[in-house]
This record gives sequence, C-alpha cells and structure tokens, in this order.
Amino acid sequence: MAEIMQLDAISLAYDTPQGRQAVVEDFSLSLEKGHIGCLLGASGCGKTTVLRAIAGFEPLRSGRIILDGKVLSSAGFQLEPEHRGVGMMFQDYALFPHLTVEKNIGFGLRRLDSAERTRRVAELLHLVGLEGTERRYPHELSGGQQQRVALARALAPEPDLLLLDEPFSNLDIDTRERLAFEVRDILKSTGHTALLVTHNQAEAFAIADRIGVMQKGVIVQWDTPYGLHHAPANDFVADFIRREALMAQRAQAYLRGEEAG
Ligand SMILES: Nc1ncnc2c1ncn2[C@@H]1O[C@H](COP(=O)(O)OP(=O)(O)O)[C@@H](O)[C@H]1O
Ligand SMILES: [Mg+2]
Repeated sequence: MAEIMQLDAISLAYDTPQGRQAVVEDFSLSLEKGHIGCLLGASGCGKTTVLRAIAGFEPLRSGRIILDGKVLSSAGFQLEPEHRGVGMMFQDYALFPHLTVEKNIGFGLRRLDSAERTRRVAELLHLVGLEGTERRYPHELSGGQQQRVALARALAPEPDLLLLDEPFSNLDIDTRERLAFEVRDILKSTGHTALLVTHNQAEAFAIADRIGVMQKGVIVQWDTPYGLHHAPANDFVADFIRREALMAQRAQAYLRGEEAG
C-alpha cells in the first residue's frame, strides 16, 4: 500500500476573544495514492479547518502533516501553501469573473510558454467535458460547468493532492449528484489523490474510497464505505450513516461490478 498523505495526530485551535478554542484534536488518517478520501460530519465539526491546515493556512498545535514523504506542517513549522503540491477546489473559491475560462485554467500554468499552455488548457477542458469553451466567461456557464472549470484549474499544475471543500453544495440536487460521479471518474482516470469534505452522506458514498466520520473535531472512524456500513465503530457512526445512502452506494457498487457483498 502506497500511502501518500498522512495526518499524524494533528491538533488545531483558534485564538478567540474568549481564549484558545481547540477545534481538532489528535486527528490521524492516511490516504493511499490514487484514492479519494472524504471527511463527513455536521457543520462546525472542523472539516474546513483540517483542509486549511493541509493547504498551509492554519498552524498545527501538535502533530505532523506528511505528503509524499515530506513534512508539510508540524508544531512551529509550516511550508508555504504554494510549495506544498496541493490543489484546492472550494465551494466559495469562485472563478475569476473577469477572466475567460482559458485564462482561469491557465492561471496556475504561467511557467509554461503560450503554445504549451494552450495545449494543456485544451487537454484539461477535454478532461472535464467542456471542449471549446476557452473564450467564455464564468457568467456564461451554468453552476455545474463553472465547478468543472474550477476542477480543471485545480488540476492544471498536477498537484500531488487535491482538496475539495463542499464543492457541490451550491448546485441543484440533480447537478450535484451527476457532478459527484463525474468528478470521481475524472480523478480516477487521471490517478489523482484527493480529500473531499462534505456534510452530505450520499455525496460521500458516491465518491469516496475511504470515509472519515467526524464528530466535534475528532475522527470517529476512518474506513471504506463498506466497512462503515457493516462494522460501524459505535452508535454515533451507525446513526449517522443513513440507510438510504448506503443502499444507493451498494447499488452503485454493484453497477460498477465492485465488491459490496
Ligand atoms: N477563524 C476562526 N476563528 C475562530 N473560530 C473558528 C474560525 N474558523 C472556524 N472556527 C470554528 O471552528 C469550528 C470548526 O469550523 P469549521 O472547520 O469551519 O467546520 P466545518 O467545516 O466542519 O463546518 C467551528 O466551531 C467554527 O465556529
Ligand atoms: Mg466547512
């Protein structure tokens, strides 16, 4: 098993007017190369804080973040976000509205010459199924199309790890479900490793190889969708995992011809 990313007992806290508030405590997980992990938990449980720490925007109180054998963060140490090999696609990480699709995607490709950049943008647009939209502006695209451009932009510099923070939550329900499957297919076809956060079980089960159920800054169980279903670690996990989401996941797994009983 090739583990590319490890969170090794990380703890995070915010300094507030009321004093230091612990948000994430002794949080560990490891993600295999090419896998899609998902943190699933209620609003306010610390999902975004974990992603911001991996991206390099929040200091660790203790523990270590390791990517591809390199320590990105530890207590008192933080590698700059741009040197981490981490890409981001956030719900509110809007595209630059005054730039075309081509310029948005090319933003992280400024080191390439213009012919190379044009070729790479076309390749990424093909990957996300938006060929020929180079000259459009974000407002000329649907919400789902905009998120696919955001995905292309995040993948453009070939990050070792892609972070997705509730990337589908502003979309209508049909688009959200379709896009979740599309994003899974795109990441699988290119072999990217990703960590997604969501409070939506159906989304987590649709997309993830490993799911971490979170409760108040703690990871209660980090397991396969199948494992969460068949061997929930405690009553919290069992209650949290809704039956209909699992049935949908199992049906999808059967359709894909994978394990699931
Ligand atoms: N910049 C901040 N300063 C102080 N508290 C924060 C800050 N950001 C988040 N929090 C608090 O930390 C907790 C976890 O927040 P967050 O990671 O955004 O949760 P989630 O993404 O799971 O909804 C919440 O109680 C939130 O209010
Ligand atoms: Mg959040």
